Parts: sequence; C-alpha cells; structure tokens
Amino acid sequence: MNAKQAAAFKAVSYIKDGMIVGLGTGSTAYWAIQYLGERVQQGLKVTAVATSDETERLAREVNIDVQPLDKVDILDIDIDGADEVDKNLNLIKGGGGALLREKIVAVASKMFIVIADESKLVENLGKFPLPVEVIPFGYTHTAKKLAALGCKPVLRVKEGKTSITDNSNYILDCHFNVIADPAALQQQINAIAGVVESGLFVKVASKVIVGSADGAVKEIAK
Ligand code: A5P
Repeated sequence: MNAKQAAAFKAVSYIKDGMIVGLGTGSTAYWAIQYLGERVQQGLKVTAVATSDETERLAREVNIDVQPLDKVDILDIDIDGADEVDKNLNLIKGGGGALLREKIVAVASKMFIVIADESKLVENLGKFPLPVEVIPFGYTHTAKKLAALGCKPVLRVKEGKTSITDNSNYILDCHFNVIADPAALQQQINAIAGVVESGLFVKVASKVIVGSADGAVKEIAK
C-alpha cells in the first residue's frame, strides 16, 4: 500500500453502516472510492454524494449509491484530498478543478477528513498556486482584481483549451508563493465580483490523515 492508499484506507474505516458520505476528487480520493466500493461489495450500506462528475462516475463503477446533495440532509463524513495542508489544518484545494463542489460538500458534513501523503504538509500555504473558480464573463477583469491582492493569476488551460469546471466556469491559478493570513485572504477573494469560490479551505478540516510510503498513517486533529 502506498502513502495515498494508506491514508484513504484509514479514512474509509471511519465509515459505518447507514452513513451519508461525501466523496472527494483526485488521485488520493480515488483510493477512498475504491476501498468504499469494496466495503459496499461486502454488504455496507451507505449513501454517497460526489464532489465532481468524475467522482460520481468512479463511485457508480464500484456500485456505490450516489445521490444529489439536495436529496440528502447533513453528511456524516466527507473524505477528500488536498494540494497543501498547513499546521492549522487550513488547506489549498482545487488542483483537480473541483474546489467549488468540494467546499459545498465539506461544509455540509459533520466531519471532514482530509487524506494526503507527506508531500502535502507545508509550513505556509501558497507555494501551490491557489485555484480560484470565476465566472467566464469578464474574467480578465476579475483576474486584475485578484492580481491586486499580490498574486499572478494564470487562466487554467488543459490540452490547449481553456479548462471548464463541472459548473461551466473558469479557473484562475493564483501564484502567491506565500499566503501569510489565509482567513483574511479568503475574505478578500470572495469579495471580488466574478469570483465564485477559492480553493482556500480555512477551518473546514476536522482531521488530516497523512500516509507514508511504508504504509503507516498518522492523524492530525484540530
Ligand atoms: C480536486 O479539485 C482537488 O481539490 C484535490 O482534492 C486535490 O487536488 C488533491 O488531489 P490529489 O489527491 O490528486 O493530489
């Protein structure tokens, strides 16, 4: 078991019969979906909510019951990856472009478990460019407002085409290098017209499960 698999496996062990579970997006969350699928195969009953179209597809592939978020009440557990995790359990997410649905699902959950390998642990957030989901209309103007906060925003392009999110928006990857005050920055970004949501997750994570290459895991809780 590699580091991502070990963290995902541990997180899935927290899921009990009858729970409503949020399923994250990305290469670490992928393993959580696979392990949950195995438990469903063994008879576990759960209802899941997916944070992206890709996750929904993967979950259905392993016979997990996926429902729209609006069809369920509060979620028991949400399990998702992260691009960076600081010592206060603040996160940068959205490397995979699913940050908006990921945040909506995370804040709708009683417990949000982040799964990661050690490479995601950082002293300060910001080396990983902060993904910000923006409305396509007037995005160059939105980018200028973001730049005024001290970053270099770069429109995300995939295979030569502007990357479009599951919500039909664009992503601006904002190169800050160091984010000294994540809570303040989150407020400033969310106040800009045209911004839908940023990949800063401040005080949202309940715990982080960190996997190591030898298969060991450690849990960091608030
Ligand atoms: C998806 O939009 C992201 O928020 C992912 O959760 C994050 O990028 C971590 O992905 P990996 O587990 O693939 O590193």
